[in-house]
Amino acid sequence: MAKKPARQYGCTACGTVHAKWVGQCDACQEWNTLEELPVEPLAASSAARSVPGRRVKLEALQGVVQPPPRVRSGIAELDRALGGGLVPASVVLVGGDPGIGKSTLLLQAASRLAEQGERVLYISGEEAVDQIRLRARRLGVEGAKLELAASINVADIIATAEAEADVRVVVIDSIQTMWLETVESAPGTVSQVRACAFELIRAAKRRGFCLILVGHVTKEGALAGPRVLEHMVDAVMYFEGDRGHQFRILRAAKNRYGATDEIGVFAMTDRGLEEVSNPSALFLAERRGNIAGSAVFAGLEGSRPVLLEVQALLSPKGGDGAPRRAWWGGIAGGWPCCWPCWKHAAG
Ligand SMILES: Nc1ncnc2c1ncn2[C@@H]1O[C@H](COP(=O)(O)OP(=O)(O)O)[C@@H](O)[C@H]1O
Ligand SMILES: [Mg+2]
Repeated sequence: MAKKPARQYGCTACGTVHAKWVGQCDACQEWNTLEELPVEPLAASSAARSVPGRRVKLEALQGVVQPPPRVRSGIAELDRALGGGLVPASVVLVGGDPGIGKSTLLLQAASRLAEQGERVLYISGEEAVDQIRLRARRLGVEGAKLELAASINVADIIATAEAEADVRVVVIDSIQTMWLETVESAPGTVSQVRACAFELIRAAKRRGFCLILVGHVTKEGALAGPRVLEHMVDAVMYFEGDRGHQFRILRAAKNRYGATDEIGVFAMTDRGLEEVSNPSALFLAERRGNIAGSAVFAGLEGSRPVLLEVQALLSPKGGDGAPRRAWWGGIAGGWPCCWPCWKHAAG
């Protein structure tokens, strides 16, 4: 009798495969993120092993190497974070919390690229074409010659992209909504996300278009997090910020074609994301002269020095009113907190 294939469980947050179901993934420590993976029948995998391979061409280490050509998006902060622009046939994953502004950023970037004459396909699995049109109107980019589609079917998307020879960029918003007929699980599961990304990446490498995948990060791991894709793509960018605040930072967590220390800074406005080319001006905007409790810190983010203000809350001091450094456990201020403090106070 044929042996039943063993069950396997994949973590939706980090992609680690486990032989047994457990409540907490021991690789990423997330809770309730394991789900059963469909297992291939043993007969199929042994049949695949019996197909003889072909010899691959081996090459010398020396050779003429050209720097990769770049397609500039026209959004300088995005190009900066990407290491100078998009590389043809490369795959970029843009991750971030839902609502942080990923669709906004990519619609703006895709429109800029289309305005420069590049052919860009923007495929949304989350929104209808009309919703994308409304957003484009709000962002003031409705005039761009962008080609839109609302689809979750990866086979259809690949057939469409491959039918058009001059497609330069394909945006998939989001990979968690994509679906491949041959995989027997729901969109958003580890196996679906991996298989859909694999097929899209193969098409991008085959046809030479830039592929941008949007991936949501969810705390509960209800949808497969972008971390399951990190090893499959060329660059991973995280779009971060506090939804209650205006500012957003795009930073590279991985980049096969550039540095990972550059950041792109944006401000979310009612007209979409605006570039912040001089973040220091922004971080020092509230500074009012040389006042006690405020200091300016200079740091280096990639090739750009950034100044920011650090503020401490101070209370007015009695007497002459001059600011004086004081420590919490002083005799006048209360009991010392420990023996060394006591010694210090007494001495
Ligand atoms: N119709 C709208 N009017 C004003 N602001 C909006 C509208 N739709 C979205 N936004 C703002 O844009 C933000 C980012 O939205 P979106 O780009 O869809 O995020 P994501 O794709 O990361 O989920 C939202 O959190 C919201 O603040
Ligand atoms: Mg979105």
